[in-house]
Order: sequence, then structure tokens, then C-alpha cells
Amino acid sequence: MKGIVLAGGLGTRMMPLTRVTNKHLLPVYNKPMVYYPIQTLVDAGIREIMIVTGGHSAGDFLKLLGNGEDFGLKQISYGYQKGEGGIAEALGICEQWAKGARIAVVLGDNIIEKNIVEPVKKFQSQAKGAKILLKEVHDPERFGVPELKGDKVVKIEEKPKQPKSKFAVIGIYMYDEQVWEFIKRCKPSGRGELEITDVNNFYVEQGTMTHDVLEGWWSDAGTFDSLLRASKLVAEGGANKK
Ligand code: G1P
Repeated sequence: MKGIVLAGGLGTRMMPLTRVTNKHLLPVYNKPMVYYPIQTLVDAGIREIMIVTGGHSAGDFLKLLGNGEDFGLKQISYGYQKGEGGIAEALGICEQWAKGARIAVVLGDNIIEKNIVEPVKKFQSQAKGAKILLKEVHDPERFGVPELKGDKVVKIEEKPKQPKSKFAVIGIYMYDEQVWEFIKRCKPSGRGELEITDVNNFYVEQGTMTHDVLEGWWSDAGTFDSLLRASKLVAEGGANKK
């Protein structure tokens, strides 16, 4: 299995913090934000990792991460997203690099308390399809939200005004090789981006999407409030516990 961290975008929700640097290079307590999603992949046993960046300061990722020595890696691959085409477009850039392997994708601003060892193991024994991770939140309208029937996800809605459940689809996704085809079928959404939620819904319609509820806390760090929350959670108890 290969791992991908998506760390592009202009970080417009966090101006002026992001005027001269990339959101994912901002500090979350004692580390740059992008360290946490990389650690999540490494802790799951993944050693081949590609970082997709874009917007400001792309070169700073290379300066910061080099070949991944801080994570015990021998090499990190890099991709560059021109413009603001969305998460699914950023993922599409990895096709050539990842083709033939299953992938675990982590959004560069998603931080977790524990690890994804068990969900990755379960996904690897899945015959085909994808897996998403859910977490109950008090503000689901900020996220992708699943509609559940019994224990099945029947649809995912991106930032719905009237969420159909209390769960967020967190920014950690596992896909088989069909993902590249599904990305090509995506059309730009209202915000002009290729949405990862549309990719996920192709798997839901195919009946091959599974989900787990994540253990331990999860936070994004892409708004002022969530960045503060994530920093506090990391300072108080630490992230990426084994
Ligand atoms: C993105 C996804 C959303 C997901 C969230 C998790 O939202 O589009 O479905 O729930 O990440 O962090 P964005 O950060 O682009 O608003």
C-alpha cells in the first residue's frame, strides 16, 4: 500500500497566516502541520509516500522534509498542483506514481490522537472498493456527512445545510485502483473544485464503500478555531499515539 498526503491549496480561509506560506507548514503546537498526517501513514506501516503541494512555498516542503529522515523514510515523492482544482484533482496527480497499488490518502490538515493500523488492515482484506473513517462531531455541516441506513453509508453530502447524521467523513481515505477512473468522471462542484465526496459516492453507488468509526480524537486544522483546537489537543495529550 502507498500513502499520499494532500497539502495544496491557497489557505484562503486562514489569511493573513497563509499570505506568505502554505497552510500545512503552520505550527500545530510543536511541529509543522504536515508532520502529523505523514506520521499517521508511517505508523500504519506505509513507507512509500507522496506529498502533493501547491500554491505558496512549494519549495519549502522539500527544505522541511527532505527525504523523510525525520520519519525514518528513505525517500519522499513530491507532486505539484497548479491552482485550486480541489482535493480529487490533487489526488489525480498521483496516478502515475501510485498506479497498481492501493492507496491511503490523508488530508494535510487532519490530525488524529491514535492511529489507523486496524482500519488499514481491514481494508487490505477487503476484496475491492474503498474505506472511509467517520467521527461524531457537533458541527457536521462543516464536513462531508454520511447518510446512514442501518450500518451502511447510502450517500455522502459535502457540507450539507441539513446534515443527515452527526458524523463527519474525516480526511483519511483508502482506495483501490478504481479511484483513478472515478476521479476522471468527476465534474467541478459549485465551488469549482473536483470533490473527494463525489469520488467516494462512486464507491457508495457501486456498493464497495466500507466505513469505520475512528477511535480517539480527530481534528482538522484548516480554520482559526480548529487550528487552535488541534494545537491544544496535541499539547495536552499528544497525537499519533501507537
Ligand atoms: C474536506 C472534504 C470534506 C471532509 C474534510 C475533512 O473539506 O471536502 O468532505 O469532511 O475535508 O477535513 P475541506 O477541508 O476542503 O473544507
